[in-house]
This record gives sequence, C-alpha cells and structure tokens, in this order.
Amino acid sequence: MNRFGERFTITTFGESHGKAIGCVLDGVPAGLLIDEDYIQSELDRRKPGQNEFATARKEADCVEILSGVFEGLSTGTPIMMVIYNTDQKSGDYSNVKDIFRPGHADFTYFHKYGLRDYRGGGRSSARETAARVAGGAVAKLMLSQLGITFQSGISAIHGIEAQSLDFTYPQNSPIYALDASVEEAQKAAILEAKNSHDSVGGVCTVKISGLPIGLGEGLYYKLDAVLAEAMMGINAVKAVEIGEGIRSGELLASQNNDAITPKGFKTNHAGGILGGMSNGDDVLVRVHFKPTPSIFIDQESVNTENESVNVSLKGRHDPCVAVRGSVVAESMAALVCADMVLLNMGSTMNGIKGYYL
Ligand SMILES: Cc1cc2nc3c(=O)[nH]c(=O)nc-3n(C[C@H](O)[C@H](O)[C@H](O)COP(=O)(O)O)c2cc1C
Repeated sequence: MNRFGERFTITTFGESHGKAIGCVLDGVPAGLLIDEDYIQSELDRRKPGQNEFATARKEADCVEILSGVFEGLSTGTPIMMVIYNTDQKSGDYSNVKDIFRPGHADFTYFHKYGLRDYRGGGRSSARETAARVAGGAVAKLMLSQLGITFQSGISAIHGIEAQSLDFTYPQNSPIYALDASVEEAQKAAILEAKNSHDSVGGVCTVKISGLPIGLGEGLYYKLDAVLAEAMMGINAVKAVEIGEGIRSGELLASQNNDAITPKGFKTNHAGGILGGMSNGDDVLVRVHFKPTPSIFIDQESVNTENESVNVSLKGRHDPCVAVRGSVVAESMAALVCADMVLLNMGSTMNGIKGYYL
C-alpha cells in the first residue's frame, strides 16, 4: 500500500537512512512541460535544515528524473523521480534500536512486521514526504494549465490562531505563517518548546482555487473524503477539517448554509465542496498536526522484550512538524485534484465526445 490515487497515481519508495527516496507517477498525460526547476523549488520549500524552526538535518533534496520525460515533455509513461539521502546519522539511533519511542511508529511497525529499520524511523519517517512533494509538483504543473492553483501556510501553532489568512504571506515567513500579526507569537511558541527540549503541534490551511464545479465522485470517491484521506495519510496528522469543519456541528443551518446568488455563493462555510464535489468556490482544508514525537525529555517506554525502559533520545528533529508539513499537505491536495480531473473527464458523454470528436 505505497500507492495513492486511481488515475493519476503516485507510488513512493525509500527510507529515511536508506540510499534514496523517490516516487513513480503513473497517469501523467503526455505532452506536459516538465519544469525541473519548478519541481526543485517545491522540494526546497519542504527541505530540512533551513532555519531554527526545522530539523538541523541538512539535505539538499536534489531531485533527478529517471524516466517518463523526453525533451522536456512527459511521454505518457511512468515518471520516476529519485532524491538521494546525503546526511544520515544512523549512529544517533543506535540507543533506540530495541526501544519504542513514545508517539512514534516504532511500536506498531515492530509488532506488525516483526522487525523494523530503526535508523531515523525507516519508512515511517517523514523523509518519505519529499517524494510526495516531487509528485505533487508535477500534478501542479498539469493543473496550472487548467487555472487550478494551490497555496498553504500555518494557521495555528500551539493554539495561537491566525486572525485572518493571507496566502501571499507564507513565502516571507520562516514558519510559513498566514497571519503576520501572530507570527512572532507562533515563532516564540516553537522556540520555547524547542529550548525546553519539547515540541509543539500546529495547524496548516490549504487553499485550492480555480476548481470547476463538479470535481469529485459521488459517493465513494468524494472530493472531501479523498482530501481527508490524503491529509490523514501524512505523518503526524490527527484531524482534517473542510470549511467550517468541526464548528459546523455547533451551528444552525441558517448560519452554515451559503446563500446562492447569480454571481455565486455569498459565503464559503462549505469550504468549496457540496455533495462530495467542488462547487466552484475556493476549497479550504485545515490540517491538524500533533507535536513531533521525538523530544529530548526523558520518557517512559518498553523495549522489544517488553521491559520498562527510560527513553533518552538523540538526533535532529523538527520542533513543529506542521511547518514543513504544510507544504506536504499542499502537495497531497494537488495529487488528489489531478486524479479527480482525470476521473472527471469520463463522467459525461460531452466529456468523452470532447476528446474523440
Ligand atoms: C514534515 C514532517 C516532519 C517530521 N519530522 C519529524 C521529526 O523530525 N521527528 C519525529 O519524531 N517525527 C517527525 N515527524 C512525525 C513522524 O513522522 C510521525 O509522527 C510518526 O511517523 C508517527 O506517525 P503518526 O504520528 O502519524 O502516528 C514529521 C512529520 C512531518 C509531516
């Protein structure tokens, strides 16, 4: 189960401290201009070691395309992209070789498979998410030709909520903040946790603009359902909200319904989705990340013999995974929409005739 999507699919491979990570994209239509600089720039947004708000692991995250592209254009065959790991420090993990780190995936991986690659979390490490960003970049290249765009940023850190969302601001902010007025407080919360050898949770918001009406399949491949699945599949994500999300359970219909006018919807409580399909408005997805499990405070755990142990971690970790996670969430949103666009082409006779006649 390393594959995501139905028509536009991504299969990822690789481990945190293995030789390389990467992905194979299938279903990319032929004739798409594959701008390698753009793909690299997307990876640069996620890459570690850029500032004090991210892990100190220094990875260049240079992407290499191995197949599926000829003279700059996609050929319609699988596109394979590889990113070599260059800054592994596997020795940092020798003391947790037989120990389960609280909050991490060690416990479940070991009990499921009977063994685990303990170096940096192996496959369960969010290092794998670089491959998703590379794949998402290709999806964005395809969708940008249809006027569909993606933006994201941090809306909350440790409960410090953005008062308004400015999607042009994150590019100027080391924590990808969406609201300059709370950015300093959010930064301080991250650094305070980091300096106390702890970590903090956070929330990012992804905005998808330019979707036509009707993207998404009823009933078992709804746009909101697949977006939620894609987001929940990202490491450390614990909740996903669309539009009003959790708050909709507290509202009256007269507050929650979006009035429809000849010029469009008056409000966007629906978060751009009705009946599992895009309604033409911006799709807004809030993604909640838990605090990074690896912290430098002693914790109680057990070893592989089920004996009580004290866990004292070493290594380099993100003090708040939501920050780099926001780019991953945006990439997953692009992969979902690329898939939905290809699926949508066969949903009406006009869609099919548009191609054949
Ligand atoms: C971008 C990103 C970076 C992450 N970096 C770390 C990290 O440095 N250390 C760590 O322990 N967990 C990190 N995580 C979270 C773990 O990968 C995740 O918590 C773990 O695999 C357990 O899975 P779960 O939290 O989804 O249950 C990161 C997650 C994301 C999205």
